[in-house]
Amino acid sequence: MKSVRGIVIAGAVCVASAALCFAEGPPGWAYGFPPGPAAPAAPAAAPAAAPAPDTTPRHLPGNNLEFTRAQIANGFGPADWYPEDHPQMPDIVAHGKRPDVRACSLCHYPNGKGRAENAGVSGLSTAYFIQQMMDFRNGDRKSAEPRKGTTNAMITFAKVMTDDEIKQAAEYFGAIKWTAPWIKVVESKTAPKTRIQGGLFLALEGNEKEPLGQRIIEVPVNAEATEVLRDPHSGFIAYVPVGSLKKGEALAKTKQCAVCHGADLKGIGPVPSIAGRSPSYLMRQMYDMQQGARKGLWTGLMKPVVANLSEEDLLVLSAYVASQTP
Ligand code: HEC
Ligand code: HEC
Repeated sequence: MKSVRGIVIAGAVCVASAALCFAEGPPGWAYGFPPGPAAPAAPAAAPAAAPAPDTTPRHLPGNNLEFTRAQIANGFGPADWYPEDHPQMPDIVAHGKRPDVRACSLCHYPNGKGRAENAGVSGLSTAYFIQQMMDFRNGDRKSAEPRKGTTNAMITFAKVMTDDEIKQAAEYFGAIKWTAPWIKVVESKTAPKTRIQGGLFLALEGNEKEPLGQRIIEVPVNAEATEVLRDPHSGFIAYVPVGSLKKGEALAKTKQCAVCHGADLKGIGPVPSIAGRSPSYLMRQMYDMQQGARKGLWTGLMKPVVANLSEEDLLVLSAYVASQTP
């Protein structure tokens, strides 16, 4: 029944109101939630005894540093596996600021590559980066999915950070080029079966597949390397529907993305580079802008671009843009 209703609504009312194109609310595959309405909160369980901390030293192949799991995920000083990879991190990037600002490098990695559930932040112009932090701070950049806690965390960070700390972070990440390949985009009829952890899709062990349908499923190439070790050299693979790259390319031409984002979509002046970025992230942003959850100082330029686009339109654009080499 659901899909029948979806088709009717998409066909008949989409043009009149973009909000109705998405009869089911924010697409869960982009936001890292299972499809359908939010499950009611489970009753609080009795607190279990805390497990003994895992103090096993962890390694990466070809790297002689070692960190425990707690060190890797330390919100105020996470592991930096490849210090030679990047300029010296400003304190706010490496350690955050207690108690409210966690280290930028925890989620975005020291090299700014980021992950599907957050964002790539390297290679952005300083002006764009700073404006985004102002938009978060001023309540003009939210997630259309209120359950997306890490976007809410960004809002808190932006409010607590000083302008100078924001500038330091913007200059640090802006000085690191966005390089590919980080996310490999493949057209496919199937995707791995996944579980969702903290908004990130992880392929289940055993290599089982399921039909992809009209979704993009973006998973770490190596679940352990990303989820447990936070290896900033271990990237992602995004399964996109067959035919979406061609459709996305055609739509990008019609909508003239390149006029503002540059011929190869790697940004012009403050207009951000989008080529080769996470397709889940791109989808979330276009959906957030369409729904008005993201409405920053410069979002007005994007608003008419995404108005009236269907979920499929935004999906094929995300797939195509992510597949482009910066
Ligand atoms: C808890 C994880 C987390 C931490 C820590 C974090 N971020 Fe983010 N950041 C996110 C998420 C999630 C998004 C994307 C939000 C979305 O999808 O709506 C984001 C987006 C951004 C963006 C927007 C990128 C774009 O292309 O528009 C900037 C800029 C940014 N973060 C800067 C920072 C800075 C600076 C710090 C350190 C002070 C930081 N972040 C720490 C999770 C995090
Ligand atoms: C008229 C100029 C213009 C056109 C045309 C345009 N964009 Fe944008 N785009 C912008 C600006 C400006 C921003 C920054 C918006 C903000 O600060 O909120 C942006 C932001 C974005 C973002 C968010 C990037 C991030 O890091 O968060 C995505 C994704 C995007 N555009 C995709 C596209 C696609 C795909 C097309 C073509 C279908 C397109 N844009 C066409 C001006 C444009």
